Amino acid sequence: MKVVYISLTGQTRKFVRKLSMDSLELTPTNPYVALGEPFIIVTPTYDKEATDLLNDFIETADNKKYFKGVAGGGNLNFGQLFAFTAKDLARDYQVPLLHTFEFQGNEEDVAQLEKAVKDIG
Ligand SMILES: Cc1cc2nc3c(=O)[nH]c(=O)nc-3n(C[C@H](O)[C@H](O)[C@H](O)COP(=O)(O)O)c2cc1C
Repeated sequence: MKVVYISLTGQTRKFVRKLSMDSLELTPTNPYVALGEPFIIVTPTYDKEATDLLNDFIETADNKKYFKGVAGGGNLNFGQLFAFTAKDLARDYQVPLLHTFEFQGNEEDVAQLEKAVKDIG
């Protein structure tokens, strides 16, 4: 299972690097990667304009059929809007919301996401 992620200020990148999983960072210049293997998305939370490249990626080639779940980083100070990017992707693509965490996450967040990934196979 590969981890596909975006990161604007580096928090999500730090979190992903703590996972013992292969990863691919998407950049706004080239989200159109045909992955051809199962993946989860780990995303920070921003307005749609900043995260639309995730939709571009999912809609590229047959990526959608390999999309297995999503996790989201955010800031709890945003209240109801905490981690909405990941929650929206889970809803829109009917994949499980595997975990949410703040900023670069902690050891517990790493363990919880790795377990959730194991559970989905
Ligand atoms: C302009 C801006 C808007 C944000 N909006 C939200 C939000 O609505 N909900 C949330 O949970 N976090 C929000 N955040 C927090 C980021 O998602 C959080 O800091 C995240 O860890 C950043 O990840 P990155 O460094 O990988 O880009 C926002 C941060 C910024 C700078």
